[in-house]
Amino acid sequence: MGRIIVFTGKGGVGKTSAAAAHALKSSKEGMNTLIVSTDMAHNLSDIFVKDIHKEPTEISPKLWALEIDANYEMENSYGTIQKSISNMIKFDNEKDAETFEDIVVFPGMEELFSLLKIKELYDKNIYDIIIVDCAPTGETLSLLKFPELLSWYMENFFPVGRIAMKVFRPVGKAFFKIELPDKDTLNDIEKLYLKLLQLQQLFKDNEICSIRLVTIPEKMIVEETKRNYMYLNLYGFNVDGVYINRVIPESVDNHFFKEWKAIQKKYMKEIQAIFGNMPIYNIKWYEVDVVGLDGLERIINDSLQDKNIFKVLKQKSDERFEKEGKGYKLEVYIPFTDKSKLDMYQSDTDIIIRLGNFKRSIPVPDVMKKYFISKAKFVDDHLCIYFEEKVS
Ligand SMILES: Nc1ncnc2c1ncn2[C@@H]1O[C@H](COP(=O)(O)OP(=O)(O)O)[C@@H](O)[C@H]1O
Ligand SMILES: [Mg+2]
Repeated sequence: MGRIIVFTGKGGVGKTSAAAAHALKSSKEGMNTLIVSTDMAHNLSDIFVKDIHKEPTEISPKLWALEIDANYEMENSYGTIQKSISNMIKFDNEKDAETFEDIVVFPGMEELFSLLKIKELYDKNIYDIIIVDCAPTGETLSLLKFPELLSWYMENFFPVGRIAMKVFRPVGKAFFKIELPDKDTLNDIEKLYLKLLQLQQLFKDNEICSIRLVTIPEKMIVEETKRNYMYLNLYGFNVDGVYINRVIPESVDNHFFKEWKAIQKKYMKEIQAIFGNMPIYNIKWYEVDVVGLDGLERIINDSLQDKNIFKVLKQKSDERFEKEGKGYKLEVYIPFTDKSKLDMYQSDTDIIIRLGNFKRSIPVPDVMKKYFISKAKFVDDHLCIYFEEKVS
């Protein structure tokens, strides 16, 4: 069974550098490795100083690289479907058409085809490991959410397995009409739909796919990393490692960097509080850009010596949100602790739990701002926190 490791984070944090270093390391350890970039702003060719194309190219022993051209994938494999989807829907007015496109049909569509390409390559079973250098956070998220939206759409409009389509009858006013696709297109759409479900299953399979977050110890980036983590958790993806890039080395000693080092320490501590339950790797700030195999070797030697680094580093989800009655329940796994020393408070964005030396900040969705903690109790090793809506 192959492995997939996805590197994600804000633009410029070091996703490509981290992903490429992992790919080089795994190929040197003898694994057939494929590194894939789904970022429209590809730079695998820059970092490996090699021409990299739309199909996998061998760039060093046991290492293949591929820069996915999402438009090419879409046109090539799914062009007819795309056309029929947009032709199928006829709107009464332009505004409704725009709204509908915004919510359902097209956001992140190209990106999705990149992921389908990865699944196709995974299914060929020729690589031991596929490393994905992903598009920046925002795009990745809309993409990971997409199958859920699509499945809603498919289940409402095209119940799988039924040739005779159920015609959509809106409860309120009819704001758009659907032209029935011909039988062949319908089959194509059903096939695509099934593929997307399998795609989602693949990326949510904790034994196969790990998501690794790349961040920088700076306020805005750490905030975004937290948000990203929360959403990935919410959607059931397995985040099992964090990379803090551009850490100023201790040996750098001048006035200007003294302040910066103090700031970095503060945010590294915060990262520790949030992600302390999974491995955190520090990558130092080098005096030059990371380029070529030499640059990647430096990262490998300095930061990626953990011999388990390609394994699944954490499998159990440590917190779970559930709707409960009119409120919510947050269940947090806190094993092996003296449960009498619990301290807990709620900030604007996080729930902070202290248990002796143990501290965790759990980023919570915006919607939780309307709720307050009404009670908390331990059930075995799980702390259950109950939220009720604030009465204004
Ligand atoms: N630890 C580092 N030290 C020095 N330069 C770095 C480091 N990490 C990344 N860079 C440089 O920063 C730029 C952005 O890195 P990159 O890996 O392309 O980020 P991303 O893929 O997230 O946009 C590149 O020029 C890269 O060489
Ligand atoms: Mg990049």
